[in-house]
Amino acid sequence: MIEITINPGAKIINVPSGTLLLDVLKQAKISIVTTCGGQGSCGKCRVKVSSTAIKGSLLNLTEKKQLSEEEIKEGFRLACQCHLYHNSTITIPSSVLMRNNNSKIEEKSISHLSHYEFKPVIPIKKYFLRLNPPTLKNQSSDWTRIKDELNRVAKIKKERWFIAPDILGNVSQLLRDNNYGMTIVLYKNEVISVEPGNTSKEMYGVAFDIGTTTIAGYLIDFSTGKQIVAEAGSNPQYIYGDDVISRVGFAGKNATNRNIIQQELISFLNQIITSLSRKTGINLSRIYFAVLVGNTAMHHFLWSLPTESLAFSPYIPVLTDEIFKEARDLPDLCLIPHAKVYSTPNVSAYIGGDIIADLIDINIWGKNNNILMVDLGTNGEIVLKGDDKIWACSAAAGPAFEGARISSGMRAIRGAIDRIIITEHKIRYQVIEQTRAAGLCGSGIIDLIASLLKLQLIKSDGRLVNQEECPKGISEQIKERIVKECKSNKFLIVPKEQSAEGKPIFLTQKDIREVQLAKGAVRAGISILLEQARLKKDDIDEVLLAGSFGSLLDKDNTLAIGLIPHISSEKIFSIGNAAGRGAIKLLLSEDMRNMAESLSQKVHYVELSAQHSFSETFTKSMIFNLER
Ligand code: FES
Repeated sequence: MIEITINPGAKIINVPSGTLLLDVLKQAKISIVTTCGGQGSCGKCRVKVSSTAIKGSLLNLTEKKQLSEEEIKEGFRLACQCHLYHNSTITIPSSVLMRNNNSKIEEKSISHLSHYEFKPVIPIKKYFLRLNPPTLKNQSSDWTRIKDELNRVAKIKKERWFIAPDILGNVSQLLRDNNYGMTIVLYKNEVISVEPGNTSKEMYGVAFDIGTTTIAGYLIDFSTGKQIVAEAGSNPQYIYGDDVISRVGFAGKNATNRNIIQQELISFLNQIITSLSRKTGINLSRIYFAVLVGNTAMHHFLWSLPTESLAFSPYIPVLTDEIFKEARDLPDLCLIPHAKVYSTPNVSAYIGGDIIADLIDINIWGKNNNILMVDLGTNGEIVLKGDDKIWACSAAAGPAFEGARISSGMRAIRGAIDRIIITEHKIRYQVIEQTRAAGLCGSGIIDLIASLLKLQLIKSDGRLVNQEECPKGISEQIKERIVKECKSNKFLIVPKEQSAEGKPIFLTQKDIREVQLAKGAVRAGISILLEQARLKKDDIDEVLLAGSFGSLLDKDNTLAIGLIPHISSEKIFSIGNAAGRGAIKLLLSEDMRNMAESLSQKVHYVELSAQHSFSETFTKSMIFNLER
């Protein structure tokens, strides 16, 4: 065994000699960015290893390709490639460290359900029953007496009540131990739990938004229909890659992997539920209903459905219907066995229940104007509502907007530059939590490119100009930031002396290319949906930017890079986590659940790769000065 010390935090862990560094971190429950899922292609899992540890662990070709000479000298290695043979000290840069290490879950709150009107209808009812003890004159069964009393207190003439044998098995003892008083928990006419004493005021539900990057859980008090508390953390599947396809690749290898990925997901849901319960002092056994929304892959992972066919043309999910089951159908989910569990229906392999939840939140069926909704996450899902139809497509935008595949990219966490303005003379930026800058997150990247486009330092084809090509008026301080590297240029944002990790932060030509690919895919998707709907960009009444990334975007810069068609910025609205709010509405209304089912059938899915105009539109859409 060898001893590994991991910084920050000086955490010590013992592992067998030869253990892969990434596995060491996993065992230590430390999460780092692994965009490619450990394939060695993203170069994001760079960590610093003490020099003695490097002995016996030669750099492989992948590391030589991904790491600069300077980094190698400093002792940086790729965690997914480097095996450790000696006692070592590992230092993880802040831009590589994921935010929910040691299962710490961050609180997130939804201050209001949304601006769209909504009437909650609680799906669970509870009744406290005090039964007359049986006598020799009244020998009715326990269940008969419960049903009679239930009819009386619920003021129902005659209902066919149902109860599962395992619940019924507890009833007899429970009644006798509690002086014939107990609380019945009902979902419609089905008893889903029995509880000693009067607990009729305690009833809760939980709604989950399972994103590829972040999982958020919201605890709802059924007695008021209000959210009490919310939690969010990084999806633990990140170790299999940032994007859905890498994870599908892992899960698709065999049934064991499929179960692993399901278990990891369920165990993270359990962490959130437990944390919600601990924070509020609410007993877990009082949570009776869970709604789970997520994209089609997350939905399939959760229910351990095969995902292989999602990854290959013609991209077929196993099912698109809603799933309405009980907690006991999800192995080890920490809710009572008969708690109801509802998963939203999907539309297709790449338009999932999360988009349905977005549409539920924005009340799409109640609108009579033309709406374009763009949900930018690891993928770009686009929905267009015209006069009487709804079209949707998914653009393979890749995770560039989340900072992945960008040389100095990182998520929108502490140390990320999330706002930048560059003028002819100055560069100004804002760092999350006002600390030293460690990298650029998606909104910072968009601001940066928009600024450089406005100054004509980036040409419409995406080329970053040489110092000599800078337009008149650009000061020397700004010009000097353009650095030649091999055959292309890069733009210095933060010099190494000012950065958090002592490394300069650049925007490279390759980074600009990544953004062009991402924005080109989204913009092409929008153009094709407009074509399908026979609408022009000026016919769009509202553009809704969904998702946490959407809420960080500067509208003008989003327009400047051509991510969305050039329309008045007054028509653009950030709607934040609509999927989370939609999940809560689905929890609180059967009508909404029925609407979700009908929406999943009504939305016309457009497969972009099957459109003959797609490659031409995509190529055009990559250009920055798109026809306005
Ligand atoms: Fe290690 Fe991508 S290179 S995770």
